[in-house]
Amino acid sequence: MSAALIEARGLTVSHPGGDLPVLNHIDMHINPAEIVTVVGPNGSGKSTLVRALLGQIALDAGRIQRLAGLRIGYVPQRVHIERAMPMTVRRFLSLPKRVSDADAAAALERTGVEGLQARQIVSLSGGQFQRVLLARALLNDPQLLVLDEPTQGLDQPGIVAFYKLIEEVRAQTGVAILMVSHDLLVVMRASDRVICLNGHVCCEGTPQAVSAAPAYRALFGAESQGTLALYRHHHDHDHDHVAHDAHSGHDHAHDHHHHHHHQQG
Ligand SMILES: Nc1ncnc2c1ncn2[C@@H]1O[C@H](COP(=O)(O)OP(=O)(O)OP(=O)(O)O)[C@@H](O)[C@H]1O
Ligand SMILES: [Mg+2]
Repeated sequence: MSAALIEARGLTVSHPGGDLPVLNHIDMHINPAEIVTVVGPNGSGKSTLVRALLGQIALDAGRIQRLAGLRIGYVPQRVHIERAMPMTVRRFLSLPKRVSDADAAAALERTGVEGLQARQIVSLSGGQFQRVLLARALLNDPQLLVLDEPTQGLDQPGIVAFYKLIEEVRAQTGVAILMVSHDLLVVMRASDRVICLNGHVCCEGTPQAVSAAPAYRALFGAESQGTLALYRHHHDHDHDHVAHDAHSGHDHAHDHHHHHHHQQG
């Protein structure tokens, strides 16, 4: 995996004041032009993992290797504070780094919201705002896009359209994408690889491999609501045909804060 854009080994992370690590011995990597999606229950450490990979959080243990000079575009999970401020789309695109009018226009066009420069951020629809966020993340010609729940607030057609857009951008630019998402069904279709996180890597693999495993039925089974199904994911069962991380067979000393429901039916 020497060609990986970014690679983590034995990543262990705690938050200040937290008695136990929220991430335990995470091994993961992202290859060029790959779409990798992280799924997992609320509080399972997805955003923490993303921020650790971006170098925003100190590590307890482990190491992260980034390709030298790696350019990353980042859409954080929480941007509603920025959204509440009076600001035009054009100004927003120049934060934190000034960009030319031509680059701003091209980024908006690429994400399908051309001509919105003069609009106030607060006046945008949810879908338009997510596209503006993506446009901003694309501005420094990233090799890796990191999107933490980029479809929050979008309706089902909006979610589908957003993932289509992401795939188009990948096809056009060759950018790799690390995404956190709860939109499981769409995620399964739009990802090259899925990582199921719950403080540790529970299982990972191609959508095909994951869907062939009992984990798939636990994730997508009887419930039509993907998010609900995720909470019923039985993290300690056998994941046939799905790669385990080296630690998932151990007894974990820490509490995963989730319930082990058995599959119904
Ligand atoms: N800055 C912080 N200080 C202290 N604890 C934190 C901090 N950020 C997150 N945590 C805790 O770390 C754990 C993992 O949080 P994280 O935000 O990574 O979860 P997540 O998987 O992204 O959840 P969600 O699906 O709700 O976004 C949670 O228990 C959370 O309360
Ligand atoms: Mg999060």
